[in-house]
Amino acid sequence: MRILVANGTVVCPVQNINEKKDVIIENDIISSIEKPGSVPSAGFDRVIDASSMVVAPGLVDMHTHLREPGHEGAETIATGTRSAASGGFTSIAAMPNTNPVNDNPYVTSFIKTKAKEEGVIKVYPIGAITVNIDGKELAEIGEMHNAGIIAVSDDGNCVMDSYVMRKAMDYCKQFGLPVIDHCEDMNLKGQGVMNDGYYSMKLGLRGIPAVSEDIMVARDVALCHHTGCRTHIAHVSSKGSVRFIRDAKQDGIPVTAEVTPHHLFLTEEAVAGYNPSTKVNPPLRTDEDIEALIQGLKKGIIDVIATDHAPHSIEKKDIEFQLAKSGMIGFETALPLCLELVRKKHVKMPELIKLMSANPAKILGIQGGSLEKGTCADIVIFDQDREWTYTEDAIVSKSKNSPFIGKTLKGKVLYTVCSGRIVYEA
Ligand code: DOR
Repeated sequence: MRILVANGTVVCPVQNINEKKDVIIENDIISSIEKPGSVPSAGFDRVIDASSMVVAPGLVDMHTHLREPGHEGAETIATGTRSAASGGFTSIAAMPNTNPVNDNPYVTSFIKTKAKEEGVIKVYPIGAITVNIDGKELAEIGEMHNAGIIAVSDDGNCVMDSYVMRKAMDYCKQFGLPVIDHCEDMNLKGQGVMNDGYYSMKLGLRGIPAVSEDIMVARDVALCHHTGCRTHIAHVSSKGSVRFIRDAKQDGIPVTAEVTPHHLFLTEEAVAGYNPSTKVNPPLRTDEDIEALIQGLKKGIIDVIATDHAPHSIEKKDIEFQLAKSGMIGFETALPLCLELVRKKHVKMPELIKLMSANPAKILGIQGGSLEKGTCADIVIFDQDREWTYTEDAIVSKSKNSPFIGKTLKGKVLYTVCSGRIVYEA
């Protein structure tokens, strides 16, 4: 299969390209990048006129929940990867809080096999830090490493016991595996369901103070320093966390961090209508936190934008706010939402692409994030100006828990190419 992507604005941060080019794909490889209009279209199986489009490395999402095995009513590897492809992603890492939990090599192998058979993009399993993600006993990290995990995390739960976390880091360092932590002091969180502040008081909902996150980020930075194990802070939501990560990086501590689009574009005010789709963990915070997160992105304190795509069935989500599960779907809205960062001049387009492809790929040690000649043809092609309405009917994911339904978004993925195959076309 030979594909010509003609005359698009090619953005490849790795090669420092941000200009009109023709991209030639042969089988699963980018075979060359040429001057626009210099390649005759004859002899190609497919020619994509990308004149008004951006052509960038396929997006890489290092924080997703595919729910298979165990919660197939909410999402499967088949539906989740299709949803991701429609959002421009070509590689995603799947968190282990499935049922059974991915805390052993058998579940790791199951996910890899299923993804190969039924997935349309690349899926990289993340193994649990502890057995059943209950924070007590280390999982079979070495065995899972042999089976193909690319990181460990107890995401959804925080590893509260610092001794267990220290052992995990000591162990993971030997394998070069990053430890991804969901930072939340469960005692400080208590029964909280939203950010602790004016709105929690007004709405009569129990609050989760930002300090419950800050304190665990500080602990992880200290352990990262002590063990030397690469440590990645998941879904940073608070100003205090950004400060601790900033100081750690200044001291050369090998910590990295991610932020989600929802923590960048929604505040606690969004909870005011008690829409359970706005219930996420960590909770939506304040304008002041958002400002710190944006500064974090601009200054390289936060390395990655990751969705934390968290599908939930109607039975578990469309219920009383306090009882609803935490999480929102995110693959299909991530890029259009984040293009706002470019429109508002917080970051330039190549930087945004780097935050959503090259940086997460580097942290996980996987391929992706580059359009260099000879690399695997993982590509997203999008129109940064096209407006469209995100309707429930148009959602590709099996779950519909998004507070962005009904909103007009700007920026539309038109093609996603994974390993040289067109896996999504609008
Ligand atoms: O909101 C969330 N949902 N945060 C998490 O950390 C876990 C996730 C889930 O698994 O639903």
